[in-house]
Amino acid sequence: MRPVVAGNWKMNKTLEEARVYVEKIHKLLLKIRDTDVIFCPPFTALFGIKEQLGELPAFLGAQNCHWESSGAWTGEVSVEMLKAVGVDVVILGHSERRHIFNEPDEWINKKVLSALKGGLKPVFCIGETIEERKQGRTNEILHHQIQTGLGGLEDGSDLILAYEPVWAIGTGLNADQDQIHDAHQFVLEELTGIFGQQGRDIPVLYGGSVKPDNAGELFKVDGVSGFLVGGASLKVEDFISIVDSVNEIQKGV
Ligand code: PGA
Repeated sequence: MRPVVAGNWKMNKTLEEARVYVEKIHKLLLKIRDTDVIFCPPFTALFGIKEQLGELPAFLGAQNCHWESSGAWTGEVSVEMLKAVGVDVVILGHSERRHIFNEPDEWINKKVLSALKGGLKPVFCIGETIEERKQGRTNEILHHQIQTGLGGLEDGSDLILAYEPVWAIGTGLNADQDQIHDAHQFVLEELTGIFGQQGRDIPVLYGGSVKPDNAGELFKVDGVSGFLVGGASLKVEDFISIVDSVNEIQKGV
């Protein structure tokens, strides 16, 4: 399976800053042949970056979408609108959407179904809080998020999953190799429970304080197919170093 490294820029970078970033990373990406790279800038930079990415083997991702195709939904953006500016991927169910904006599993499910129907690949995010982990409820939470978020879905071929423990996001404190191993194996079991053998082919990314100095060791964990990177995706040097580590390990496989 080709690894995936996605950069989630969150609410960072104006169009001009995004353009400077892509100009800088353009040349460096040309030598990345064994890893799929996804840039997820804010909505306002999507179109500008698409033109600039040109023929580069990189994908464009949005950070959210609505489940309806149009209508009276102030402040929302539809799958069709994203497709029309060249977006390939959409992050759904990110912990900041779940916990700060109170997005329930039911909405996330509708978004996943609508993204797939409209031809966008969802990066469907799941993960437990520190309280849930301390209470020994990690698997229960992941099970619930997966079963509700993917409810009604029969084909998993265009799906990407991201396991992101909430306590590791933006804290500088990544989950350790054992924690990641256990969670990813559990997620893969859940996915095969839903999709059969196809579930094994769904990339499961890890996210939460991935940095240049831990990417190599974390990518070697069985069941990790790549990363969803927040803070460290904002600097070209850091992001390309993470992509490089994954690509080099993959080349050696
Ligand atoms: P982080 O964020 O890399 O800054 O921890 C990851 C994410 O939110 O996807």
